[in-house]
Amino acid sequence: MGVTVRFARGDDAEAIAGVHVETWRSAYAGLLPQEVLDGLSWRQQTRRWRRAIRNPEAELGQVFVAEGDGIAGFGSASRETGEITTLYVRPVAQRRGVGRMLFCRMAEFLDGPVSLWVLDGNPAAEFYRRLGGRPGVRATVERWGMELSRTRYCWPAVSGRA
Ligand SMILES: CC(C)(COP(=O)(O)OP(=O)(O)OC[C@H]1O[C@@H](n2cnc3c(N)ncnc32)[C@H](O)[C@@H]1OP(=O)(O)O)[C@@H](O)C(=O)NCCC(=O)NCCS
Repeated sequence: MGVTVRFARGDDAEAIAGVHVETWRSAYAGLLPQEVLDGLSWRQQTRRWRRAIRNPEAELGQVFVAEGDGIAGFGSASRETGEITTLYVRPVAQRRGVGRMLFCRMAEFLDGPVSLWVLDGNPAAEFYRRLGGRPGVRATVERWGMELSRTRYCWPAVSGRA
């Protein structure tokens, strides 16, 4: 599968929302409450991603897509905070280098130190370690009526290294 990474456009919102719902249900089963995963709405996510794509200055930052045979994955990165705010690859496209491509493109976009938060227990932590990320502070956030622990992974500067 030939995959390229590019900035997302408004008309990618539906496909991104589909990948979002599918990937959350697969990756977060057992980590987040099942009713939260069951309640994910493709329509709602389509609206959310359309807003995010139109407002790269907002919290999530610039949205990227990895496109092969359709949208294989997406991510977002904020220059304001140096953070990768989302990174998701469809289960069927995982372990083929798509996550690495998205990560490297977003790190290049950030052009400096990079950080991101990983939910404790998420196997994605190993992916970030393979890409040279170092686990740093841990913190808890309250969401959906529960305390979630997460760890911050950091890269001093990534260009050319991941
Ligand atoms: C984490 C994720 C983005 C990785 O994307 P991917 O396309 O599968 O990863 P890649 O194929 O680019 O893998 C890059 C390297 O990480 C390794 N890797 C990827 N996922 C791994 C895992 N779950 N466990 C161990 N190693 C992993 C790969 O083997 C590869 O290592 P190598 O280059 O030494 O062979 C993807 O699995 C995903 O979307 N997961 C679910 C959602 C999620 O948790 N996102 C992160 C939220 S913080």
